[in-house]
Amino acid sequence: MLTDTPILEIDAVSKRFVTELDIAERTARLLGSKVEPLTVHAVDGVRLSVRKGEVLGLVGESGCGKSTLGRMVAGLMPPSEGQIRFRGRDVAALRGAEAREAALKIQMVFQDPMSSLNPRLRVDEIVGEAPRVHGIVSRREQDGYVDDLLNRVGLDPTTRKRYPHQFSGGQRARIGIARALAVKPDFIVCDESVAALDVSIQAQILNLFMRLREELDLTYLFISHDLGVVEHISDRIAVMYLGRLVELGAAEDVLRRPNHPYTQALVAEIPTFETKKKAFNPIKGEIPSPLKPPTGCHFHPRCPHAHQRCIVERPALKEIAPGRLSACHLNDEARAAA
Ligand SMILES: Nc1ncnc2c1ncn2[C@@H]1O[C@H](COP(=O)(O)OP(=O)(O)OP(=O)(O)O)[C@@H](O)[C@H]1O
Ligand code: SF4
Ligand SMILES: [Mg+2]
Repeated sequence: MLTDTPILEIDAVSKRFVTELDIAERTARLLGSKVEPLTVHAVDGVRLSVRKGEVLGLVGESGCGKSTLGRMVAGLMPPSEGQIRFRGRDVAALRGAEAREAALKIQMVFQDPMSSLNPRLRVDEIVGEAPRVHGIVSRREQDGYVDDLLNRVGLDPTTRKRYPHQFSGGQRARIGIARALAVKPDFIVCDESVAALDVSIQAQILNLFMRLREELDLTYLFISHDLGVVEHISDRIAVMYLGRLVELGAAEDVLRRPNHPYTQALVAEIPTFETKKKAFNPIKGEIPSPLKPPTGCHFHPRCPHAHQRCIVERPALKEIAPGRLSACHLNDEARAAA
């Protein structure tokens, strides 16, 4: 059930990766050249809260930091700065049993089930191992528990002695979902969970996610590079560009009346049903290197409305209407002129 209570708060979270120098660069450095390791600011001061029961779609082009943010939410890596709170508690500060419980409550479903499912394990082990190890079921109960989960995700329980390669892509996606559900999570980070699937299978898996949300009272952070995928299932949509959040609002508002010029370009390029398979290349101009992001507004080299202020000043993410945020100087200027 969708509520106003935040279940997850992402509070000014940043993640920086320092790239290792290769052998040539290390040698050049030893010889006196000024070669420094480069820092990627993969996530840059993101603030976002997810309400219990909602589906928050997180979109943006490749490399904008979606997976990095998702991994931090799932506790797979700590933020460089800022705090991620689950039910009001800083996840990185939890220890012992509390840390283990939080790790189970937030699960991640990945893009490519073939590489995230162990090819040497049978389905009953893939799905049943974690709940047994964590004491959610006994060894005696495990078979029945796995059968219930397989039924729930639309798989025939008689297939539980098979290996991942004996299933289709859509069925493997269902196995990945059953594995995530097996530890009774409250929150699921779906990272490009349907990206590898054909369009008709994508729709079936999206429907499954929505049914499971209702049945199990789940909350989703639904990550996709494709606005067309998140548009039908999200309550709200967050748009990222080169590590920063640039727009946030109710899904319908963001799609019907995108405010940020980057979101406007994404919306203009949502592939139609016929062209769904075309490469997602929404906006003119290259995505700038995250190693050397543009000054001011990161979007300025590609923005049709860019002006002098955009080159020098980072636009703050501001409320432009109730529940609606955007980071573009044009909003200040429109307000000042009104
Ligand atoms: N472990 C890492 N070490 C160094 N750099 C990394 C690491 N993980 C991610 N990055 C860099 O951080 C930036 C954000 O990457 P991320 O995978 O979060 O983007 P994304 O939005 O998920 O992209 P995609 O749509 O391609 O999955 C990229 O420049 C990436 O190269
Ligand atoms: S701040 Fe400037 S460059 Fe950035 S999106 Fe707005 S108009 Fe375009
Ligand atoms: Mg990713």
